[in-house]
Amino acid sequence: MTQNTGFIGGGNMASALVNGMLNNGIDPASIYVADPDKTKQTALLALNSAINTCNDGAELLDDIDVLILAVKPQIMQAVVEPLAHKINADTLIVSVAAGVSVDKLVNWLGKEMSIIRCMPNTPALVGCGASGLFANQLVSTEQKKIVETLFNTVGITAWLESEAAIDQVIAVSGSGPAYFFYLMELMQQTGTELGLPAELAQALTIQTALGAAQLASQSDDNPATLRDKVTSKGGTTAAAIELMQELGMDETIKAAMQAAVTRAAELADEI
Ligand SMILES: NC(=O)c1ccc[n+]([C@@H]2O[C@H](COP(=O)([O-])OP(=O)(O)OC[C@H]3O[C@@H](n4cnc5c(N)ncnc54)[C@H](OP(=O)(O)O)[C@@H]3O)[C@@H](O)[C@H]2O)c1
Repeated sequence: MTQNTGFIGGGNMASALVNGMLNNGIDPASIYVADPDKTKQTALLALNSAINTCNDGAELLDDIDVLILAVKPQIMQAVVEPLAHKINADTLIVSVAAGVSVDKLVNWLGKEMSIIRCMPNTPALVGCGASGLFANQLVSTEQKKIVETLFNTVGITAWLESEAAIDQVIAVSGSGPAYFFYLMELMQQTGTELGLPAELAQALTIQTALGAAQLASQSDDNPATLRDKVTSKGGTTAAAIELMQELGMDETIKAAMQAAVTRAAELADEI
């Protein structure tokens, strides 16, 4: 039987998922997207004109098996509550919003339902995402498989034992792309200051990040061993790494990631 997947919100994350689904042979006629922004609808229809789009979630709720809530956390309550009475009790709810707990969703939906929280990241836009998933107790093994398959179309997925682990995933992979962008930004800038043309510094930095990530993902060695292998005693890499360590790189990364966890909890309280 064809699975109907609905999206409330057709922005970055929804379009990444729709794109991944289409690339993996999912029938476009089984994809429904509600977004009041016509430009988002047009962009989705440009991916495949057989996708169903509409302005309002209320228009798409009848036949939906998996409903993905892909609006900003701050407006989630205002979006979900008016739709709640129209959502079938056997629909699987998937929220990608940071800080919106299962309890809050149950409260806004007005009934106990199968709910999955997912924390994807921006590389999902290029099919290289990393998503942490948490399912409440009502979610069946079959439903877990459906959602896992869906998010695997835009990268890798991992199931979490506890909902609290979502905040840890935010600190690692949710916010993680920005840590790497920051490092790349600094490397590019310093490469230019050292005398390389700006474009060359940028190209070398990006290719080095890409190469390091691919090497780490394809190698049997862990990142620490890979680093060791390129750090000859007394060499240039050793000089750079030793200085990073002396200046407190380890402590900085630890404190920064802890700050992300703390902020995730604070944001949840603010919603
Ligand atoms: N992008 C990421 O990498 C990423 C990573 C992890 C988690 N997330 C989560 O994913 C969710 C979506 O993020 P995003 O980056 O895709 O945001 P986005 O690009 O802003 O998409 C959200 C879309 O929802 C639309 N919308 C607003 N009100 C609506 C309503 N009542 N019904 C239907 N659609 C409505 C918005 O339209 P307007 O623009 O007109 O308001 C917008 O097009 C957020 O909760 C975010 O925290 C995103």
